[in-house]
Amino acid sequence: MLRTIPFQILASVTPAFSHGALLGQLNILFAPSLPPASRMAIPTREELKTARENFQRGNATCFILGASGETGKELLAEILNQQLFSRVTLIGRRELDLKGPLYTNVCQEAVDFEKLDDSAAAFRGHDVGFCCLGTTRAKAGADGFVRVDRDYVEHAAKLAKAGGCRHFVLQSSKGADSSSSFLYLRVKGEVEARVQALGFDRCSIFRPAVLLCDRREFRPGEWISRKFFGVVALVSPTAMSVPTATVARAMVNNVVMPAKDGQKVEVLENAAIHALGGIK
Ligand SMILES: NC(=O)c1ccc[n+]([C@@H]2O[C@H](COP(=O)([O-])OP(=O)(O)OC[C@H]3O[C@@H](n4cnc5c(N)ncnc54)[C@H](OP(=O)(O)O)[C@@H]3O)[C@@H](O)[C@H]2O)c1
Repeated sequence: MLRTIPFQILASVTPAFSHGALLGQLNILFAPSLPPASRMAIPTREELKTARENFQRGNATCFILGASGETGKELLAEILNQQLFSRVTLIGRRELDLKGPLYTNVCQEAVDFEKLDDSAAAFRGHDVGFCCLGTTRAKAGADGFVRVDRDYVEHAAKLAKAGGCRHFVLQSSKGADSSSSFLYLRVKGEVEARVQALGFDRCSIFRPAVLLCDRREFRPGEWISRKFFGVVALVSPTAMSVPTATVARAMVNNVVMPAKDGQKVEVLENAAIHALGGIK
């Protein structure tokens, strides 16, 4: 209850931000983190190196949803840099302009997310699925935000599961909570629950705090908060934000490491993302 008061005050005095990215990011910031029990163990550099070499030998394949976005593009770069997969499929609403030898093992599937069943074939035959999809309420409206961040993601995950995907990696958000009174956090909590319910052999949920990146698209609220959190990060790097490159490396490191004690679901909060993504 106390946690919601600052947002209600802010929303009433700054209506321009009430549905915007700045308020959304304040929601993320002041949201509680999950209890430590669900956090994953952080490997040593040596353990990670061995696991990576083993993984590379497995010739696994993956798909990425949202590879055109800020986290997704870092993820694609990291995956290609580490040569982890024999084939990488980018599934998105448009094809990206990717040329050169670096992209030899990359294929693209342009799909209509409103008719995703028509593209079920695009989701077949991948060992790992990464999802960095998302929009904002400011951009898509409340219904559009729910449609993309929850329904598209759930539908894609269903098709991936049916298509044989064993490990699904979902980029959610700090504070995701299906009982939250804030749309953003509630939708993130709902999508986490729906994806978990599909019963992947392994499901890794990433809950980053405010993402730091040089965003191509101009989002005024986010721009202000990024400047602020960029300065805070100089003093306390892991507290309130995380660079998209760190999130991407943490996802990749998570995938190559076997799940601890065969855990089916892992939830990585912001501190764990920093710790895991900090290992090269
Ligand atoms: N911003 C933050 O501080 C923050 C903090 C914590 C968590 N998150 C979450 O992290 C995730 C990734 O964030 P990001 O900032 O890296 O993403 P982003 O740069 O906004 O990219 C989003 C991706 O989703 C795709 N997308 C958006 N609307 C779509 C639609 N209607 N149909 C199909 N595809 C659509 C975009 O494709 P196009 O390129 O075609 O538009 C893009 O590939 C999101 O779920 C976000 O909520 C964000």
